Amino acid sequence: MTSQNSRLGPKLRLGVNIDHVATIRNARGGSYPDPLRAAKMAAAAGADGITAHLREDRRHITDTDITRLCDEIDLPLNLEIAATDEMLDIALRHKPHTACIVPEKREERTTEGGLDVVGGFDKLKPFVTQLSDAGIRVSLFIEPDVAALDASKALGAPVVELHTGAYCDATDIAEQEREFERITTAAAHAQAIGLECHAGHGLTFDSAKPVAAIASIMELNIGHFLVGEAIFIGFEAAIQKMRALMNEARPS
Ligand code: PXP
Repeated sequence: MTSQNSRLGPKLRLGVNIDHVATIRNARGGSYPDPLRAAKMAAAAGADGITAHLREDRRHITDTDITRLCDEIDLPLNLEIAATDEMLDIALRHKPHTACIVPEKREERTTEGGLDVVGGFDKLKPFVTQLSDAGIRVSLFIEPDVAALDASKALGAPVVELHTGAYCDATDIAEQEREFERITTAAAHAQAIGLECHAGHGLTFDSAKPVAAIASIMELNIGHFLVGEAIFIGFEAAIQKMRALMNEARPS
């Protein structure tokens, strides 16, 4: 979509979000399907990291899942958490590779929009500091917006993840192009101010490809679509197909 697409960059990592394996498990209340098994399968299929969101209401991933993931997977764990004292304690106890701070509303179906890093600066600052002091890499899930990037930098987070939901949900080409432009502009600004830039939410085979081609984006985190595709083509095949299209969009 823009000139950035043709630039080559370093290897783009794929983080596989396994929340919705737990959603299916929890629909019956038992232990099947097991998110840990899915995480191991994702690793074998070419994932570079595993992402799991421990929500306040534990609607999918549970505390036990986090313990098992920390103990039994070899890949880096990106633990998504809200900025609450409970989640801070859990992150400090488990010390995941990355803690991605996300906004969370109890009534939402999924994470709607990015963190208010400007308005919530004073509340977020001690979270970022405590996690960083514990050696946990902090990522902030934000809208693709210059002010949010500058506030993230000022908060001292080394990583931001750009919310791609508006781009993925766009219902016409003009809106999609506008949203895509916001992502490319934000990714370039992140790079310019020294933030590692990730992206995710709502990505599919079609929508991930142009995002994967943006050279300043280092990681895509994808969950719902891959778990959905598992029904039709299998989980490993879905991850391999995503990995292949990412490699094609961004040869390293
Ligand atoms: N990144 C973050 C920070 C998220 O909160 C989510 C959803 O939990 C995702 C990526 C993955 O979104 P999706 O499941 O729509 O691929």
